[in-house]
Amino acid sequence: MLDIAIDGPSGAGKSSAAKLAAAKLGFIYVDTGAMYRAIGVAALRRGIDTQDKDGVIAMLPELEISLAFIEGEQHVLLNGEDVSKEIRLPQASMAASHVSALPEVRAFLLDLQRRLAAENDCIMDGRDIGTVILPDAGLKIYLTASPEIRAKRRYDELIARGTPQDYDELLKEIIQRDYNDMHRETSPLKQAEDAVLLDSSDLTLEQVVDRICALAKEAMEATA
Ligand code: DC
Repeated sequence: MLDIAIDGPSGAGKSSAAKLAAAKLGFIYVDTGAMYRAIGVAALRRGIDTQDKDGVIAMLPELEISLAFIEGEQHVLLNGEDVSKEIRLPQASMAASHVSALPEVRAFLLDLQRRLAAENDCIMDGRDIGTVILPDAGLKIYLTASPEIRAKRRYDELIARGTPQDYDELLKEIIQRDYNDMHRETSPLKQAEDAVLLDSSDLTLEQVVDRICALAKEAMEATA
């Protein structure tokens, strides 16, 4: 069994690369950001201010988050309802950033994340996978890219989806989210000491996937 932890800031290409690498390796891909987004969506739906710590914590006992894998794609279920589309709305991003700062929310998701890794060969991406969730992962990668490159990628993606947004706004949002994720008290985003640093600024998606697969093969050979 091999678990691969991929951490890094928003928009570094973790999910696209992890998804493709998992398919090549025959691993499951677990996107932990989707779980925080589902909790953010649950708060938004209830009209709870996502910065209202007590309100968010009081809601947690009413929530059940689970994952379903349909044709290899991860779907996130909130109390049994597939919210995979809703969690990608822009307001869900900031809501996820807010709720993920709460230790109670992180503790709420810890068991689910560890159980998925224990039961499967998996690539799990997030912010604290190598540092907190899977400290013994067989391979840890810290995938990053400059804020400008990440904003440009997001800009192009939104144009392709027919929902363009201002580049400067996107850049500002990315810098704000990086700051939130890196400066929170609980499980801040940081590179694990034993993680391989992979900067995707000048790499294509294919090159990133190849590098992850090569590192995975090395890790598998080392433990064989
Ligand atoms: O990866 P993403 O953009 O879908 O993540 C959404 C938010 O959730 C982001 O602000 C960081 C947070 N997050 C986290 O704190 N820990 C994780 N393991 C994954 C995501």
